Amino acid sequence: HTARFTLDPAFAVSPVDERIFGSFVEHLGRCVYSGVYEPGHPSADEAGLRTDVMDLVREMGVTVVRYPGGNFVSGFKWEDSVGPRDERPRRLDLAWRSTESNRFGLSEFIDFVRKVGSTPMMAVNLGTRGVAEAIELQEYANHPAGTALSDLRVAHGDTDPFDIRLWCLGNEMDGPWQTGHKTAEEYGRIAAETARAMRQIDPDVELVACGSSNQGMETFARWEATVLEHSYDLVDHVSLHAYYYETEGDRDSFLASAVDTESFIENVVSTADHVGARLKSKKKINLSFDEWNVWYQDGSSPQLSDEGRGEDWAEAPRLLEDNYSVTDAVVVGSLLIALLRHADRVKVACQAQLVNVIAPIATVPGGPAWRQTIYYPFAQASKYGRGTVLDVRPQGPTHETARYGEVDLLHATAVRDDETGAVTVFAVNRDQRRALDLEVALAGLGLARGEVVEHSVLSDADADARNTADDPDRVTPHAGTGTTLEDGTLKATLEPLSWNVIRLA
Ligand code: AHR
Repeated sequence: HTARFTLDPAFAVSPVDERIFGSFVEHLGRCVYSGVYEPGHPSADEAGLRTDVMDLVREMGVTVVRYPGGNFVSGFKWEDSVGPRDERPRRLDLAWRSTESNRFGLSEFIDFVRKVGSTPMMAVNLGTRGVAEAIELQEYANHPAGTALSDLRVAHGDTDPFDIRLWCLGNEMDGPWQTGHKTAEEYGRIAAETARAMRQIDPDVELVACGSSNQGMETFARWEATVLEHSYDLVDHVSLHAYYYETEGDRDSFLASAVDTESFIENVVSTADHVGARLKSKKKINLSFDEWNVWYQDGSSPQLSDEGRGEDWAEAPRLLEDNYSVTDAVVVGSLLIALLRHADRVKVACQAQLVNVIAPIATVPGGPAWRQTIYYPFAQASKYGRGTVLDVRPQGPTHETARYGEVDLLHATAVRDDETGAVTVFAVNRDQRRALDLEVALAGLGLARGEVVEHSVLSDADADARNTADDPDRVTPHAGTGTTLEDGTLKATLEPLSWNVIRLA
């Protein structure tokens, strides 16, 4: 029962764009309010940002943060979110049937992103709004001074421009649930014209056009093709969104979710390249996987708390507060492996979301912040997944799944540090019951010390174990045993249903 592959620096996939370790803060539930922002909390700084949350975000290695939505952005008036807090209007948030106080807005977001050492990815509203409001926001945010809107920002206390380089042209515009939902033709046109105008202000902004909300959408692929026909020369990336959860007790299929992720990526690449070929373009469109995660969309996951859940038009109600298990964390690890394996085309990715709402970080209002199980694979991938992805082609045992047919039990990738030559193998054993032996031939790697630095494992005798506010360290990574590197071969045993990080130097 052994899976094998060979690593050789001569066979590389691509350098990793560090922006694939991104996250997402939406005005949704308690992601912002009592998540990142809670004035009066014992850990809050002078701006009301929770320093306990910011410490965890920094430790997690979040390189980019998408904001302010999500579905929320399709009704967002950016002007409401700036200027003196007491004068900001309260608004209906149609996307989440909540009341938005606007106590936290653009300036607070930029402050947060800077304090955690990350970068902003800002979405413009192409649902209820259009070209004019997008370029007004860009002028307010990025123009140094000397115009009405840039001077307004300065008057609001932000002398330095926000310097937002990465912009999403709307959100999930293919989805009938989206406020201001559009056909591919309608969206392709408005995306192109918004992009053209934004480039008139700054030709170097990076722009993401909306792709499909998931691969199962009826319009999938035709949507991407039509949108890119209108906008190919004007945008840099097309977006992908995907969420997975276990249904009808079919854990084997759930553990194989990355099969869908990888086929989704490959199908979007083919579609974008097909449009490029028809346009006789040398340019390649990259992928921004700007929403991905495990999310129990049927509401079947235990929640962080059921107190006052989902009340209509409430302020920051408890919504989508999935409490994640070990199994969920292993799937998250596998999704990270899928992104790394496609680092040649996936240049931005955002786990959705950052705090409380389908999130790796959880908070108690007025109380502690703590790490959900899914925190660990993200933090480890961000820390050790920098460098160049090596081509990994595993050979080994497979099993049948109801949703994806025959699937490899091993899902793996490897990243080589460009300076030190150290290599990290990320591996998931999808087998719920049996351990899987791993053998990796390292012939061409030329490791400086030729040793295993660490084998970290996330697994548990109880695959449903979860961290909770009362027991926040119930699940943490532990050391793997018996991992060796001898005669140019790495040998390890991967526990059943496990996420593994094996560091070699
Ligand atoms: O992340 C939660 C929601 O999922 C986002 O608002 C939306 O874009 C997606 O459908």
